[in-house]
Amino acid sequence: MKVLSLALLCLALTAGTSRANDCWIASAHPLATKAGCDVLREGGNAFDAAVAVTAALGVVEPYSSGIGGGGFYLLRRAADGKQIFLDAREMAPAASSEAIYLDESGDAVASRSREGALAAGIPGIPAAIDHLSTHYGQLSLSRSLAPAIELANDGFPIDPRYVRAVGWVKNRLSKFPGSRRIFLNNGAAFEVGDRLIQPELSRTLTVLARDGAVGFYGGRVAETMVASIVSAGGNWTMDDLSSYRVIERNPISFSFMGATITTAPLPSSGGLVMAQTLNILQSLDYFDQPKDVQPHLVIEAMRRGYNDRARFMGDPDFSEVPVEQLLSREYAERRAKNLSMTQATPSDQLPTVFDLSIDGEETTHFSIVDKWGNKVAATLSINGPFGSGMVAGETGILLNNHMDDFSIGIGKGNSYKLVGNRINGIEPYKRPLSSMSPTILETPRGTLVFGTPGGSRIISMVLLGLLHYVGSDESDGQSVVSIPRFHHQYLPDRVQVEPESFDTEWIERLEQRGHNVQVYKRKWGNMQAIECSVDGEVCHVANDPRGKQGVVF
Ligand code: DON
Repeated sequence: MKVLSLALLCLALTAGTSRANDCWIASAHPLATKAGCDVLREGGNAFDAAVAVTAALGVVEPYSSGIGGGGFYLLRRAADGKQIFLDAREMAPAASSEAIYLDESGDAVASRSREGALAAGIPGIPAAIDHLSTHYGQLSLSRSLAPAIELANDGFPIDPRYVRAVGWVKNRLSKFPGSRRIFLNNGAAFEVGDRLIQPELSRTLTVLARDGAVGFYGGRVAETMVASIVSAGGNWTMDDLSSYRVIERNPISFSFMGATITTAPLPSSGGLVMAQTLNILQSLDYFDQPKDVQPHLVIEAMRRGYNDRARFMGDPDFSEVPVEQLLSREYAERRAKNLSMTQATPSDQLPTVFDLSIDGEETTHFSIVDKWGNKVAATLSINGPFGSGMVAGETGILLNNHMDDFSIGIGKGNSYKLVGNRINGIEPYKRPLSSMSPTILETPRGTLVFGTPGGSRIISMVLLGLLHYVGSDESDGQSVVSIPRFHHQYLPDRVQVEPESFDTEWIERLEQRGHNVQVYKRKWGNMQAIECSVDGEVCHVANDPRGKQGVVF
């Protein structure tokens, strides 16, 4: 019966799509989409709806994002065309240092940056919600948060994705009393159709609705978080919380084959890696090359883009990053000089990353377009499935494990095997380098507002989507979110490909060119897109079929 009612609910809401009433919201969960649509129907705009969807996703996909995490929002305001990249990335607490995460021999201890109190950066989502509502919304914060508060309080039916995510980290959740109490069923896993109720989170969201960001970064909620983190071996202070600010940054914008791409600037590496990769491809006349050579070229361009991610990128407020160079066509042409049209360049022949002389399921994306033409593309995360696994005290707040996105220990990869150097090293109040890439693509055929979860593979997924939409007149939003995916991130030196997606001949051709191809067990990503006509009159919602099947990451 429980399973039947869940199935009916999903059928009624068709997995995050709600076209019928001109509610153009693509999200990873039908109940979050519904929360946003309710707010739009009450006169809210896309920014109010973004508040509602963010908060609701944190309740119904607790393994992906939430007020204990961070994220990025790419906004376009219709009235004046203003574009803003809202940086709500987590921030390292003042007392943090790399040494905390190393053993006596200087090697990174992965569990410290991935599990429990030390893994969590200062969250950004509560500040983002307040900022969106105050500066861009039309409704009160409490109105926009109402659906999430209700969902947390009354509960919702657990779906297969929740069950799968718990399956991956049940041991971690069992270690923390709050997580065990909330996300497990007397220590066992919930089943599909059981109800997840989160009264503590509902109370915290109510304080946020009443007091705004200060209700999270100060007062009782903050005191409870700090006390529980300190008693679990962490190092947050009240000052860390009250110092947190969202930052309005200029998005990266560049053109590619007649299209305009607006996307994530640092501290996300997404925009710079994509710009370099696409500039390299453009310099090679990519679309004029034979179809059987194109995947090789994309892989070689990715290899170089991710190589520069590791060499040059980190929080721009802490280090000089050669942004202009990385965006320039001339630089891409130079990078393409040693790129063979027929053979793979082994990654160890690219410039080295490490200067030794100096010292899952998760994440979620949603897109919204409202009737006025305001647009939001947002990628939000607590990093790994259920983040650090730790709920702070009685707040219901599940803490992220984004400290793991810093480069820790020389040459050690993070949980996505991404390497980096000092420029992405831990420093007080610094933000870890990200791959999250909410993006708006404008072409003479239409506009796409899109993005996806997927760790290091976010950038390559968005990139393949861009290439597909720009390169084929038959492409549409649904084909962009559905196309088969492959990925190369410089190190490890291998091409990851989705299972059952490419034929043997395709794989063998790459192997003959010297690529190390690995077919993965699972498909990855959960891309959400809205495609609009050039005049903006008609939009279509497109949800990644992988998300519907629960196959994410
Ligand atoms: O910020 C980043 O790049 C990662 N922490 C995002 C994590 C993620 O997408 C996990 N998803 N499956």
